[in-house]
Amino acid sequence: MKLTVQIGDITRSDAGAIIVTLFQDEGVSGPAAAVDQALDGAISQLLQDGEIKAKAKERTVVHTLGHIPSPRVLALGLGKRAEYNHRLLRDAVANAARQLRGLGVETIAVAVDPALGEPEATAQAIAEGSILGLYTFKVHKKADEDDKEVRELTLVDADASREGALRSGVERGRILAEAQNWARDLANEPANFMTPTVLAERAKAVAAELGLECDVLERSDMERMGMGALLGVAQGSHQPPKLIVLRYQGAAPDAPALGLVGKGITFDTGGISIKPSQGMHEMKADMAGGADVIATVKALAEMKAKVNVTAVVPATENMPGGSAMRPGDVIRAMNGKTIEVLNTDAEGRLILADALCYARQLHLSPVVDVATLTGAMIIALGRIAVGAMTNNDALMERLRAAAAAAGEKVWQFPLFEEYKEHLKSEVADLKNVGNREAGSITAALFLQEFVDDAPWLHLDIAGVDQSDEVKGVLIKGSTGIPVRTLVNLSLSLAEKPLA
Ligand code: BES
Ligand code: ZN
Ligand code: ZN
Repeated sequence: MKLTVQIGDITRSDAGAIIVTLFQDEGVSGPAAAVDQALDGAISQLLQDGEIKAKAKERTVVHTLGHIPSPRVLALGLGKRAEYNHRLLRDAVANAARQLRGLGVETIAVAVDPALGEPEATAQAIAEGSILGLYTFKVHKKADEDDKEVRELTLVDADASREGALRSGVERGRILAEAQNWARDLANEPANFMTPTVLAERAKAVAAELGLECDVLERSDMERMGMGALLGVAQGSHQPPKLIVLRYQGAAPDAPALGLVGKGITFDTGGISIKPSQGMHEMKADMAGGADVIATVKALAEMKAKVNVTAVVPATENMPGGSAMRPGDVIRAMNGKTIEVLNTDAEGRLILADALCYARQLHLSPVVDVATLTGAMIIALGRIAVGAMTNNDALMERLRAAAAAAGEKVWQFPLFEEYKEHLKSEVADLKNVGNREAGSITAALFLQEFVDDAPWLHLDIAGVDQSDEVKGVLIKGSTGIPVRTLVNLSLSLAEKPLA
């Protein structure tokens, strides 16, 4: 879909549909009033008759019957102005764009009312809402004649002084939403298509397109470096493991480089501690964290952001092959710590252990890891918020601000010392699982053993990484959360490093 900005009169647009916005209890104003007038008061009549209340999520399509060039107007309710924000606008535009696509509309004009807020952020929200809301994953389905596509969406504003801000907002929103959709594509891909090798190829393709450095470490490299935890998980699979390293250098070479480490399990059977078959197919998305961090680097590079950032993605399957790890096996991570593997399904923390050590060897700091790590996180937060755990309060504050600006939700869990008891092993330095209590926290405490004293933030995205409904910017399947938060966080840390 092409996104454009036009300065002019919305009533002159010949798009397949015009979207105008309404606040509850405020009648028509701004561009909606101009359209209403051109339609001889059709919208205000509907408001007067109580058929339009302009509540949030309310949408009414009105046919224009030749009064204006565009054949239909979608009146988009945004609720009360006091409760309005750009998150609401982003979701409303996503819903409206999908509705119009269903009607076969190929070109949409959005009337940008100055009341929607500062032009750059408003344009960004509209761009994100439309691109994310119109996302589909149809790679493996033959084309259907009912497949409809919106070709172009134009933001129309009457005020020429806002054009520059609108254009930069659209561009930023486009880059962010396309990166998020790129991550969705990877996580939605079934595991027979998205192997560690393919994941590495996708990262290399990003690097080639944007002129980035991409190194892929092979099994022999991992052996040489003593990555016994990653190798232990990989040994049950016929697919060779990969450690993907994607680097973008947008700031001075001596400026600090942020590390983004993403879990890249391309399929998690549980290994010998095998998962129940019910729902196991969902584990094709167990590389969502890996996809998210690569997408974040891609977006930052496209934005030409003044940031140094490196994504590190340990990628492997977790399979119960004849050479698979057994419960009770002891393995040795890159930093020399030994691990008693009591449950082979707690594999994410094992591969991340070596990836975190590697990130530290590259002197990346802070280090942020992103992983579909624990089922316990879905019990705790459902599919609403990302669980965050950290050894650095200032980093947590940056995350909160970054998430708020992206319209994504994060919630902090504590890493109290007392929980560490759960990870004590009789035979090794650590065991890879505690009991069932506080499972997301003990998983994070396990990871903390591999970051030394670097400022570190762990994001457990199990739950929010998938949506089971179509709602606002979310489509069923992979969400691509928290790519936009990660981009904001990276920009924040580059602009003002942690004290
Ligand atoms: N990939 C799973 C976590 C997960 C579960 C993500 C459901 C998304 C949806 C992870 O590797 C896992 O299996 N974790 C175990 C850990 C347990 C054995 C300590 C879990 O959460 O059950
Ligand atoms: Zn697992
Ligand atoms: Zn897993």
